[in-house]
Amino acid sequence: MDPSIDPSTGTPWAKHEKDPRWTAVDHFAISHLQPATTPLSKALAYAAQLSNDAGLPDIAVSALQGQFLQLQCRLLGVKHVLEVGTLGGLSTIWLLSASPDVRVTTVEINEKHAATARQAIEKAGMADRVDILLGPAAHVLVGLRDDVQAGKRPRFDFAFIDADKPGNKTYFNLTVPMCAPGACLIVDNVVRRGEIADDELTKKDLRLQGARDVIIAAGQDDRVDATLMQTVGEKNYDGMLICMVK
Ligand code: DHB
Ligand code: MG
Repeated sequence: MDPSIDPSTGTPWAKHEKDPRWTAVDHFAISHLQPATTPLSKALAYAAQLSNDAGLPDIAVSALQGQFLQLQCRLLGVKHVLEVGTLGGLSTIWLLSASPDVRVTTVEINEKHAATARQAIEKAGMADRVDILLGPAAHVLVGLRDDVQAGKRPRFDFAFIDADKPGNKTYFNLTVPMCAPGACLIVDNVVRRGEIADDELTKKDLRLQGARDVIIAAGQDDRVDATLMQTVGEKNYDGMLICMVK
């Protein structure tokens, strides 16, 4: 694949969408902050290879983004994590790596993705701390929410929403009531190369609408305070919505 071409359009990236400096900085930082010899780095490399071999889309969190999620969990002393959108388990392993006390419940619609993730998480030695729930998130989250509200499951103190983008607002609204006061809820990919600020593009793209809708919903929702962090890196120009559940 030609890295100067945007695979989603077949045309060269605009300058603001991809810059070789972002990738170079990611590589520099990773080489110093994430030594390749640690068991975690080896588990993540294995997971990335499995995903690649299985032909999963190349849309997992970057290594620095994964480490950001891990550090957030450690700073907050998190024990119960919800992830919506497992993909091949890269972000799941990052979340599980925060502490041996962390348990992750992760929801995935695609059987092949879930099987890939399970294999990667087993190899990482973390399988006893993860629940991979297979099914459409809107359906699975309703069941989870009912269990949490009935006291059958503990509330989550960290949530990472990273599934199909049109579903963002639905997943956000189902997740907030499952969170403990003080929980952190992060929604991935809400900037999308800056396109969410473009009214015309947004009208034509349900993923952009999904990104906008969850930002608007968070702003109107008295249950959360939220900010948006724009990011660049090897995954190009994007951003995360970061919420605190009150
Ligand atoms: C896409 C999805 C992601 O979760 C991501 O991190 C990047 C891109 C996508 O569907 O295009
Ligand atoms: Mg994502």
